[in-house]
Amino acid sequence: MSIRSVLAGLSTFLTLTLPLCAQTTPSLRDAFKDDFLVGAALNEAIFSERDKRDAAIVKAQFNTTTPENVLKWESVHPQPEKYDFAAPDRYVAFGEANHMFIVGHTLVWHHQTPKWVFEDAKGKPLTRDALLQRMRDHIQAVVGRYKGRVRGWDVVNEALEDDGTLRQSPWMKIIGEDYIEKAFQFAHEADPAAELYYNDYSLENEPKRKGVIELIRKLQAHGVPVAGIGIQGHDNLEWPTIEQEDATIAAFAALGVKVMITELDINVLPSPAASGSADVSLKGAANPDLNPYTRGLPDSVQQALTKRYAELFRVFVKHSDVIRRVTFWGVSDDSSWLNNWPIPGRTNYPLLFDRDGKPKPAFDAVIKAASE
Ligand code: GLA
Repeated sequence: MSIRSVLAGLSTFLTLTLPLCAQTTPSLRDAFKDDFLVGAALNEAIFSERDKRDAAIVKAQFNTTTPENVLKWESVHPQPEKYDFAAPDRYVAFGEANHMFIVGHTLVWHHQTPKWVFEDAKGKPLTRDALLQRMRDHIQAVVGRYKGRVRGWDVVNEALEDDGTLRQSPWMKIIGEDYIEKAFQFAHEADPAAELYYNDYSLENEPKRKGVIELIRKLQAHGVPVAGIGIQGHDNLEWPTIEQEDATIAAFAALGVKVMITELDINVLPSPAASGSADVSLKGAANPDLNPYTRGLPDSVQQALTKRYAELFRVFVKHSDVIRRVTFWGVSDDSSWLNNWPIPGRTNYPLLFDRDGKPKPAFDAVIKAASE
């Protein structure tokens, strides 16, 4: 046998078997293809493909993406006259190259928004009209740039307090409560075809859930084009209860909007914060008692996490007629924000892929939940 024919045989063998090997891990997007889109929030290392491992997971597993940080105001518009579109351009290009439903996050929020946004050149608070103008310019520039490419936007993020009242953010204090309506209106003008969302955490708790229902009803009564509500889904092993999750999805669906789980992760570490809070300004002091799993996750906790993911996904599947997508806040455990919030430098295990990028037992349980 000639070397050439041996090489040809080898190449045929590899061509046939490599794709089969790659297929041994099922994909989340295929498992839920009749139910909803499944996605992840991407950091810059992933969508720039410096993190090849997690970029490969994203390409194999997901069909929708959210940018973890690069479209927040402080990143994309750091100074009054300066926009920085380099990273968001790469984010959108990555999504297009990989046929993702590309989400933009987020236009109007009180965090990760520079102080200058609310001040004039002398450092005095802006007037209502000047802040509205600034909001409009920002939305026009950012949404306009990706018109027809970013298909859904988190227009307003976290406008409510835990008691369901409107948060006294600088947006609210300077503009008044119609800032929310205006933000949606400006986003709609900038891209009439984009889906526009309201996104928040702790919505599974009764007072805040009621607050968002009231808010969405008001927006609808004023003809504001709100397409969906994002339930962030920064969960833990006990909160929210399955009943809370189920009732929340059903209540939002009754408003006639799409429901999305937008930032799903499950915190397995003891928390100094109130259950269900994802307030990014919370900070706790380092304390070894609150960082118990630095050498690995005990089997009992791994099992609890697996069970928790399975039961949550069973609820999502039950409501698949109204759930548009389920997006994880990150890809694998090592780069999750929960290693650094609310206490920096902890070892957390909130996602479906472990620190080596391998699917965890929770991944198998989620895949299984798709066909139960
Ligand atoms: C909130 C925001 C996200 C992100 C997370 C934590 O939920 O919506 O953009 O900052 O907090 O990372």
